[in-house]
Amino acid sequence: MWRDLDPIGRSASSGGYFRQPFGSAERECHAWFLEQCAARGLEVESDGNGNTIGWWRTGEGQGVLTGSHLDSVLDGGAYDGPLGVVSSFAAIDLLRDRGFVPQRPLGVGAFVEEEGSRFGLACLGSRLMTGAISPAAAQELRDRDGVPLPDAMAASGLDPSLGPGRLLEGVGVFVELHVEQGRDLVDRGAAIGVASEIWPHGRYRFDFTGEANHAGTTRMEDRHDPMLTYAMTAMAANEQARASGERATFGRIEAVPNGTNAVPSRVTAWLDARCATDDSLEKLVTEIGRMGHDRAGRDGTGLSVTAESVSARVGFDPDLAGRLADGHDGGAWPIIPTQAGHDAGILSAAGIPTAMLFVRNPTGVSHSPAEAAETADCLAGVEALATSLERLAGEGATE
Ligand code: GLV
Ligand code: MN
Ligand code: MN
Repeated sequence: MWRDLDPIGRSASSGGYFRQPFGSAERECHAWFLEQCAARGLEVESDGNGNTIGWWRTGEGQGVLTGSHLDSVLDGGAYDGPLGVVSSFAAIDLLRDRGFVPQRPLGVGAFVEEEGSRFGLACLGSRLMTGAISPAAAQELRDRDGVPLPDAMAASGLDPSLGPGRLLEGVGVFVELHVEQGRDLVDRGAAIGVASEIWPHGRYRFDFTGEANHAGTTRMEDRHDPMLTYAMTAMAANEQARASGERATFGRIEAVPNGTNAVPSRVTAWLDARCATDDSLEKLVTEIGRMGHDRAGRDGTGLSVTAESVSARVGFDPDLAGRLADGHDGGAWPIIPTQAGHDAGILSAAGIPTAMLFVRNPTGVSHSPAEAAETADCLAGVEALATSLERLAGEGATE
């Protein structure tokens, strides 16, 4: 399966992946997903948002869903998303080899636009399917070229029908396996971990406005330079987050007119902020906004801050986490928090009992071509997922 996926959307220069939703590389991954379902005789169901589930229907009652996503951030790693999907198919193969027959339907899902790399809103597919975003709001989303979401879907051959459909009906529990995106498991010397919670996080658009002017003839003291206000705000955000063990990142900016020899008229920058509590997230973003406005006052520039998406803290079902983590030959798997967002967080917030398994990442790097996972750990992940699915879909399963 890795050999199939390896070249799809891979940049020859960086080695990273560009699999934006409804683009050709991501659609190729999706076609591969359908082939994998067909090869295993899984019954495929899709919704009008671009999400798909392949069901192994031997049992009755509430289904056990696993899977993850196939899209990537811009220049992303190989594992963020696909590791969960590949491991899900591999876990089904392992269970079948063992002669396991699920007592309830067992599904592998692929959620669309998890990263928000094209339409700006992370977990767009799972938000739409759970009703966490309204179809009306989603219809207004546009990519960087101004293409509306429904048009992008239609251009890739889909028939968009945004909003909660019936795809999640009958799903009683969701388990998402994911590459770890930090160093927690490396530091603990553990190959597998279980998630306790997702930190609250959000995306905020900072629009800095100023006065376009000549880069040579305009004296430094006469400028109203929004790039300077942005730069000082980014530094202040970094200091503020460092001081409190939180996260603040300006990872994307657009400058207008974006010319080397002109003071810009406008800079738009996106802040990604993450904190341990909902209150601390609100305080951090308010403080960064206050510092930005102070600086704008001094630079004679303008600033407006718009929250584009805010995700509250998600605490995963502790009983479920304990049930999956306990009772392994090597002892219990560690139960750890994550600062990364996931579709699992959206399904959990929608009331579906949800768990996440993490596979150790030796570099601790993610959202970058340097993201990594050892084959032995990936195989341990497949075993861990298969064991978890056995516990949830086997005899006496109670979820
Ligand atoms: C998704 O991976 C995120 O945490 O941004
Ligand atoms: Mn992911
Ligand atoms: Mn990601």
